[in-house]
Amino acid sequence: MAFHLLYHLCFIVLALLPCSTMAQTSKNISLGSSLTAQNDDNSSCPSPSGEFAFGFRQIEKDGFLLAIWFDKIPEKTIVWSANRDSLVPQGSKVELTSGGQFVLNDAKGSQIWSANSPSTGVSYAAMLDTGNFVLANRNSTNLWESFDQPTDTMLPTQSLQQSGKLFARYTVTNYSTGRFMFSLQPDGNLRLYTTNFPQDSANFAYWSVKNTEIGFQVIFNQSGLIYLTSQNGTILNTISVNPIATQDFYQRSTLDYDGVLRHYVYPKRSTSGEMWPMAWSTSSFIPPNISLSIVEKVGSGGCGFNTLYRVDNTCACPNGYSFIDPNDELKGCKQDFVPQSCNAPADDFDFDEWPNTNFPGLDYEQFQGMAEDRCRQSCLEDCFCAVAISNIYRECYKKGLPFVNGTIDSSTHGTKALVKFRKHNSISKKKEDSTLIIVGSVLLSSLGILNFILPLITYVVVSRMYSRKAVAVPPNYQGMNLKYFTYEELKEATNEFKEELGRGTSATVFRGVLACDEGKCVAVKILDAKQV
Ligand SMILES: *[C@@H]1O[C@H](CO)[C@@H](O)[C@H](O)[C@H]1NC(C)=O
Ligand SMILES: *[C@@H]1O[C@H](CO)[C@@H](O)[C@H](O)[C@H]1NC(C)=O
Ligand SMILES: *[C@@H]1O[C@H](CO)[C@@H](O)[C@H](O)[C@H]1NC(C)=O
Ligand SMILES: *[C@@H]1O[C@H](CO)[C@@H](O)[C@H](O)[C@H]1NC(C)=O
Ligand SMILES: *[C@@H]1O[C@H](CO)[C@@H](O)[C@H](O)[C@H]1NC(C)=O
Ligand SMILES: *[C@@H]1O[C@H](CO)[C@@H](O)[C@H](O)[C@H]1NC(C)=O
Ligand SMILES: *[C@@H]1O[C@H](CO)[C@@H](O)[C@H](O)[C@H]1NC(C)=O
Ligand SMILES: *[C@@H]1O[C@H](CO)[C@@H](O)[C@H](O)[C@H]1NC(C)=O
Repeated sequence: MAFHLLYHLCFIVLALLPCSTMAQTSKNISLGSSLTAQNDDNSSCPSPSGEFAFGFRQIEKDGFLLAIWFDKIPEKTIVWSANRDSLVPQGSKVELTSGGQFVLNDAKGSQIWSANSPSTGVSYAAMLDTGNFVLANRNSTNLWESFDQPTDTMLPTQSLQQSGKLFARYTVTNYSTGRFMFSLQPDGNLRLYTTNFPQDSANFAYWSVKNTEIGFQVIFNQSGLIYLTSQNGTILNTISVNPIATQDFYQRSTLDYDGVLRHYVYPKRSTSGEMWPMAWSTSSFIPPNISLSIVEKVGSGGCGFNTLYRVDNTCACPNGYSFIDPNDELKGCKQDFVPQSCNAPADDFDFDEWPNTNFPGLDYEQFQGMAEDRCRQSCLEDCFCAVAISNIYRECYKKGLPFVNGTIDSSTHGTKALVKFRKHNSISKKKEDSTLIIVGSVLLSSLGILNFILPLITYVVVSRMYSRKAVAVPPNYQGMNLKYFTYEELKEATNEFKEELGRGTSATVFRGVLACDEGKCVAVKILDAKQV
């Protein structure tokens, strides 16, 4: 986090000229101009009002984004970028060639991106006060506009035409193409989709405009309204209904990394008595409730596998699970415990209860007339069962891994999700004591005795391992409630150390079953030094 902040503070940029040299008089960028990505250099091309700027922003240590951002606010919020999926190193250069081509080359001179403008006719480039960066001809007709190639954001006066798309960024701090898409399709339907990430094809539409007429364009007008119109200008659907004055507020509409399209506002001045803080605030958003909207046939849902959507539409890992990547929660959750064995008792497992939780979709078993206690028991004894759903109609549903579609939904009364987890999870504790082998398990009935006996067992096993000689148990201990094991017995119990449960810095833990003790499960810890 600190790392990211650091780099966000020292955004950067540009070496050369056009804007800086022409500064006050003209904002036009002439043919033959270029800008170079450099650390510790913040020069950039501002728009005439200074509200927007164009240039390189440093995103990671040696990764620059050619971008447009709000330049008068401390956040310097990025609204467009050319190379979101391939950051360029220091020394990379964007150039408006003498032939009128606008190209981004990396430090070695390889082309990373170029504006798909006509091959002739461009006579200058300009960063406009609307946030639009344009290539224009001598008559000031725009031949190319950044507004026509949006990334994840629309600005007032910008519109989205048929076939136009916004793609969410990947995470808050990663600008690359993410998992959600806002699309005005060629057929005129306006939709929000999950994508088949990392491909950008549409997967599941979780919001769409229900209109009978064909949508022609999405307009974000200067009054801060966002709406879909038909070809003759009739408003078919209003996406953002609250008018907000552009002279008083910076505004943007961004498809965020979490799949929500939000209309943000930021006061231009701190006018006393205003209700808006000096920061980006959400004025409106779609869909109204994303957690209830995403139920894909395939895919990991809006939150990733093994997650549940909370009421506030954020993602949660149930007990026994944790985020695969805490900086990228939508990657889903991983199981932190040793999975249940199919031929061992289930006493070690319990359920994390999620009341009012809906879990539509695939169940591998369903039972009618089964009360909650029996539903629990059924899932507990079933090594395939990761989640059981029990409701007041005495229905019981079982789900395996990975599970998806879990959503807390206050309208589903009397349905609860029971997520199975291991109660005493030695692996997740990761405590690596330096004592050697063996861990007793259920076998030793009293802790007092365990404390007393453990050094002995340790001694026994260690000697076995290194000497492979039989060790006699001192007579004093005979007849007490304890068992000791030969190396061969442990080898047999663990099926020649086959099933690894976990690994520490100095030892590896294996699962074993004791033939002599009604098949009880044990964990056998073994020093790495020894060769099996
Ligand atoms: C930019 O160049 C065009 C065409 O030469 C000219 O009409 C326009 O006034 C220039 N703009 C500025 C801000 O200098
Ligand atoms: C660049 O901007 C950052 C943040 O505003 C500032 O701390 C830094 O001194 C600037 N660097 C230069 C070379 O102007
Ligand atoms: C500029 O406009 C004039 C008159 O409208 C036209 O004749 C000319 O072809 C235009 N030039 C370019 C480069 O578009
Ligand atoms: C952003 O996320 C993508 C997709 O996971 C990854 O390939 C890329 O390296 C990330 N970029 C940064 C700057 O972390
Ligand atoms: C924005 O659109 C609304 C609805 O069509 C309209 O009432 C308003 O006048 C428009 N604002 C501008 C500046 O065009
Ligand atoms: C626009 O077209 C629709 C039919 O496609 C029609 O019902 C409506 O009256 C038209 N509106 C205008 C302003 O022409
Ligand atoms: C999620 O829900 C949808 C809609 O009910 C369903 O088609 C899909 O199979 C579910 N996914 C899983 C993995 O259960
Ligand atoms: C989303 O749905 C949940 C569950 O029905 C509800 O508690 C919550 O208030 C809803 N949120 C919005 C913004 O509608």
